[in-house]
Amino acid sequence: TRLWLVVPAAGQGRRMGADRPKQYLPLAGRPVLACTLERLHAALPAARLCLCLDPEDPYFDPAWVPFADWRRAPGGAERVDSVIAALAAIAPDAADDDLVLVHDVARPCVTVDDLSRLVTALADDPVGGLLAAPVADTMKRDDGAGRVATTESREGLWHALTPQGFRFGLLRRALHEALARDVHVTDEASAVEAVGRSPRLVAGRRDNLKITHPEDLALAELVLSAQQQAGQA
Ligand code: CTP
Ligand code: MG
Repeated sequence: TRLWLVVPAAGQGRRMGADRPKQYLPLAGRPVLACTLERLHAALPAARLCLCLDPEDPYFDPAWVPFADWRRAPGGAERVDSVIAALAAIAPDAADDDLVLVHDVARPCVTVDDLSRLVTALADDPVGGLLAAPVADTMKRDDGAGRVATTESREGLWHALTPQGFRFGLLRRALHEALARDVHVTDEASAVEAVGRSPRLVAGRRDNLKITHPEDLALAELVLSAQQQAGQA
């Protein structure tokens, strides 16, 4: 079986509110997109890449792609539409039991070690799974009026990170069924769960943050330099 990497990079970065999509903002001197692809390539150099890009994107430069075998797919309105377009783009060359890892371009701090452990954990898994981190904070549910209604147990709660990796055939069927049934899916795992399969949770580092708000860029820069010093890049 082959290993595929799908990297959705067609978002507009509205919450970041910058003059361009966040994947093109500089992080330690290079665009976020280049940093993320470099990490993925360091861990999985033989993977085949499909990059989801806005067809009208004026910022993308193919020189930032370190993979020998790569293609692009047109981004859609939502993240899930972009991932579905990527699966269509790889379909002619992908077998149903090929493993497809989907990783947000906005997560440049994923480590080589977490990527390797995920691929190893999923190698013989018939379903697939995701990197995830246990919830550390106490969780409150509000009453709809700005006050605490209840304190929820964080026992057994995880943050869903990426990559999320599934067998090509299962992932394609799950995402199409989610669209057809109008199920709102924010990640690949929730689509797979909706067709009755249970993704494996692979414990990953909590510093695999998604750059979302303006303050996250400085945080990601700190994480990258700390990881480099610790030899974890
Ligand atoms: N993404 C995509 N296609 C979309 C929307 C999002 O490929 N139509 C990608 C983003 O580029 C990002 C990932 O999905 O890598 C996670 O999305 P998010 O963090 O929400 O990024 P944006 O949608 O760009 O940001 P925002 O929601 O603030 O606009
Ligand atoms: Mg978004």
